Amino acid sequence: MADKFQAVVIGGGPGGYVCAIRLAQLGFKTACIESRGSLGGTCLNIGCIPSKSLLNLSESFHKAKNFSKIGIEVGEIKLNLQKMMENKDKAVSVLTKGVEFLFKKNKVTYFKGIGKLKSNKEINIIGLDNSQTTIESDNIIISTGSEPVSIPGVEIDEKIIVSSTGALSLKTVPKKMVVVGGGYIGLEMGSVWSRLGSEVHVVEFLDHITPGMDKEISSEFMKILKKQGLKFHLNTKVEKIVKNNNGVRIDTIDKTGKKEELDSDVVLIAVGRKAFTKHLNLEKLGIELDEKKRINVNKKFQTNIENIYAIGDVIQGPMLAHKAEEEGIAVAELIAGQSGHVNYNVIPGVIYTTPEVAAIGDTEEQLIEKNLKYKVGKFPFMANSRAKAIDEPEGFVKILADSTTDKVLGVHLIGPHAGELIAEMAIAMEFGASSEDIARTCHAHPTFSEAVKEAALSVDKRQIHS
Ligand code: NAI
Repeated sequence: MADKFQAVVIGGGPGGYVCAIRLAQLGFKTACIESRGSLGGTCLNIGCIPSKSLLNLSESFHKAKNFSKIGIEVGEIKLNLQKMMENKDKAVSVLTKGVEFLFKKNKVTYFKGIGKLKSNKEINIIGLDNSQTTIESDNIIISTGSEPVSIPGVEIDEKIIVSSTGALSLKTVPKKMVVVGGGYIGLEMGSVWSRLGSEVHVVEFLDHITPGMDKEISSEFMKILKKQGLKFHLNTKVEKIVKNNNGVRIDTIDKTGKKEELDSDVVLIAVGRKAFTKHLNLEKLGIELDEKKRINVNKKFQTNIENIYAIGDVIQGPMLAHKAEEEGIAVAELIAGQSGHVNYNVIPGVIYTTPEVAAIGDTEEQLIEKNLKYKVGKFPFMANSRAKAIDEPEGFVKILADSTTDKVLGVHLIGPHAGELIAEMAIAMEFGASSEDIARTCHAHPTFSEAVKEAALSVDKRQIHS
């Protein structure tokens, strides 16, 4: 007799494991199937967490090299890359084990293996030990995430031609690294290896980096990264990548037709990700996909088969761990008959470079496209006492508010701790705050958050410190 569950989640990433825990909290007999052998998905194992660990460790190395400038005399600063990688691996293993503990605490059954849909209520599991099991469930939630896309004709070997996975585990610091794609992954991993000593070249197809970001922030971001030593080749497409005895050769062509050959030790392909639905058997069940091969769902996250749901990177929307988590909670509550909901207008995005970049809501370009009238408030960290005190004065805060109602429509930040500051803006926007609400809220002194308050004051041109 097959084991019977009320809910089974396929995929144990941030969307899936959060969903499974919430379902169990709501009283469902729940299981989660994960093929990786450890929980937490791309984010915890080969994405957000190891990259944030390396960003922090490489930043410490970079800062240590400049200690003498701030009056700290130390001996020769040397990099021990192996130890740094061990530290990163420790962060990953502690956190993945933590999720396993949460499953036990919440009585979620954890199957290690590949889940394959057999019918709308049955799932075959091919265990990591090659065992075969079939389980049954009233509700099935697909949360199988995404995988990197490559460039046609280019095979990723994770040694010389790497995706983010390989870029997180290089054994030596490449003398030169070419990054294809000036998006989140390219700029975070490019920053890591640049700080550790690589000459980093970013090849970007468009005329700007980080597509979709407010243009003013994006151009300030590129200026700062250039000062840090990253080199940019905009309006440039990669035509061919060939491995050779010295590493790899990247043939590029720019918008004017000018061709260039870039030699490199390592090339990182960071040109986006695509939904991962490989083993699910979706065609057999007739589950509908969209034109980008993502699973089609309605507002309740139901596929065209009503008891099969999908969340996270396999459906449309930004490929972000926290978006998947919100969907995981919402779908669990909807299955329980509650009114789970995700506010897609208020999903922050953060790039964890130094300085950090963070955004929420509409960009100025989107407001223009929507034909909305808006006011802009801006404040530079150069005029923020805390940022000056710690010598991190780069960047600014930009608040976009409705011209008539003053409601905050978008906030864009580049500067110290931007990724934390954006949480205040998320709360403000969830509560439908006006820029005046933020401007009249007391912010502690001296903090970076005062720059947010001053930007809000600046919407009505009454900022004090600039
Ligand atoms: P991305 O979509 O952020 O950026 C890809 C870039 O590659 C774009 O700028 C695009 O114009 C460029 N591009 C595409 N084809 C190209 C070509 N042939 N030659 C040159 N440039 C080309 O994708 P990325 O960086 O791979 O990240 C994938 C996903 O992972 C994103 O959706 C992102 O949201 C998520 N992510 C989020 C992070 C965070 O929240 N901090 C960190 C890392 C990834």
